Amino acid sequence: MRNSTRSGVDPFIVMDVMEAARRAEEAGRHIIHMEVGQPGTGAPKGAVDALAKEMSQGPLGYTVALGLPALRKRIAQLYGDWYNVDLNPERVVVTPGSSGAFLLTFSALFDSGDRVGIGAPGYPSYRQILKALGLVPVDLQTAPENRLQPVPGDFLDKDLQGLMVASPANPTGTMLNHGSMGALIEAAHSQGASFISDEIYHGLEYEAKAVTALELTDECYVINSFSKYFSMTGWRVGWMVVPEDQVRVVERIAQNMFICAPHASQVAALAAMECDDELQANLDVYKANRALMLEGLPKAGFTNIAPPDGAFYVYADVSELTDDSLAFAAEILDEAGVAVTPGLDFDPLRGHTTLRFSYARSSADIEEGLSRLREFMANRGAASSAG
Ligand SMILES: Cc1ncc(COP(=O)(O)O)c(C=O)c1O
Repeated sequence: MRNSTRSGVDPFIVMDVMEAARRAEEAGRHIIHMEVGQPGTGAPKGAVDALAKEMSQGPLGYTVALGLPALRKRIAQLYGDWYNVDLNPERVVVTPGSSGAFLLTFSALFDSGDRVGIGAPGYPSYRQILKALGLVPVDLQTAPENRLQPVPGDFLDKDLQGLMVASPANPTGTMLNHGSMGALIEAAHSQGASFISDEIYHGLEYEAKAVTALELTDECYVINSFSKYFSMTGWRVGWMVVPEDQVRVVERIAQNMFICAPHASQVAALAAMECDDELQANLDVYKANRALMLEGLPKAGFTNIAPPDGAFYVYADVSELTDDSLAFAAEILDEAGVAVTPGLDFDPLRGHTTLRFSYARSSADIEEGLSRLREFMANRGAASSAG
């Protein structure tokens, strides 16, 4: 059967790494997982309890397309609590994860062939979803001196209809402050491009507070999710905030594409928003892990890393060690028993000399992983100086 040219998207390499790690485990090896981009913890207890109660009481049928009104209202309140932004709940759309929000956003804003700028390195699925929708992803090659985030000079001549940013970003964990986010919004708007802000890692920040685009403008789409801070990846629930005059457009697409986000997950998500103690305890683990990584990775020999302001990743330039990150990651898995992600997923051009390390698991795992990496690198150094 023939396929569309749009369907020729690339695989998600980290999934291949996870599969290689699974095979090693099946063969009896103990693997430390620094490849996965999800919390090791489950949904907060209060969320699970609330759902159990609801399941015994109601049929959990479809919700309205924009999401449970109570959840939309509670999400709007979060903007007051976290950023002092007064948000009309009518502007909140509950989605099947932020992945569902990307589909809605790109469908609502762009026509076939439109060009959307994304930072490289960046979350791989932006590029693939854009391609699958017949849109043109335009990689903006970011610079280390800009913390691997785009700046206006990267796209002023690129004829964009949209600009998508992420702060904190995956794979780097770097953030945009008010000034840098404001400059990007202004530059996008000045060329008639829609501004989209992926804020999925908000809540997971370590030095400064993450900035929402809504502090700076209402003329934007903001995308967020219960997957990361709220520790609910598999529940597939997220949200977006859109300008008032865009709500009906998004609603019509959501009705037809998804009918609604999973009802059960919306119930759990609403309760998760009252589970701050448990979520802050998860954050404390990431904080400790981040400190271990910032000390341990350079000691192991991974010295060239982006400043990880948030999320749970460290992105390392390993160009002095290899020009084949895929083979290097395979070697690390094979010899050290540590699964890491080659940068190629995030940056097709420069990712052959970068690796992403995730520190979303337990601190004991991170300590063990770092000690294995140290030994692996010491042996590698000894072997190359002997050879
Ligand atoms: C930057 C970024 N955006 C979006 C997603 C997708 O998340 P969701 O589970 O909400 O679909 C991820 C997942 O890792 C991510 O890293």
